Amino acid sequence: MQLAFSADNEARIGRLLAEYPDPKACLLPALYIAQEQFGYLTHEVMELVAERIGLPPGEVLSTATFYSMFKKRPTGKYHIQVCGNVSCFLKGSDRLMAALEKMLGIRDGETTEDGLFTLSTVQCLAACGTAPALQVNDTYHEEMTPEKVVALVNRLREEGR
Ligand code: FES
Repeated sequence: MQLAFSADNEARIGRLLAEYPDPKACLLPALYIAQEQFGYLTHEVMELVAERIGLPPGEVLSTATFYSMFKKRPTGKYHIQVCGNVSCFLKGSDRLMAALEKMLGIRDGETTEDGLFTLSTVQCLAACGTAPALQVNDTYHEEMTPEKVVALVNRLREEGR
């Protein structure tokens, strides 16, 4: 079956293109819309975006793969993204990751069997002043400690059931 945007999303992209005649300016919001609809960005989804906004597929692919907020494969309900960059590393992000791996029983890049959690290391989340930082889906958690991480995962487990 050929991929297509829903009628709502088709209209949203149409409004973007009307507002920003340069398709490059529409690329990030169009990728967000595609991710919202399809869950993650396959090559087919990226080609759909490219065709719809009028950019070469290679440009869409290189942009989508540059930004860690765009998912290229299925993820759990909660995507825990731990910043591994310098400020966070110096403030103990490796201890956060170790606590998460131990608690969830998965390694960096993996998803729990129940589909609740995916764990990833990402680059700077632009929260260096409140390092170490992590992100769960679109929500930031700053000045984290291994103890706070345990409490966070327990809360998400409760909410995710
Ligand atoms: S280094 Fe972690 S948020 Fe910038």
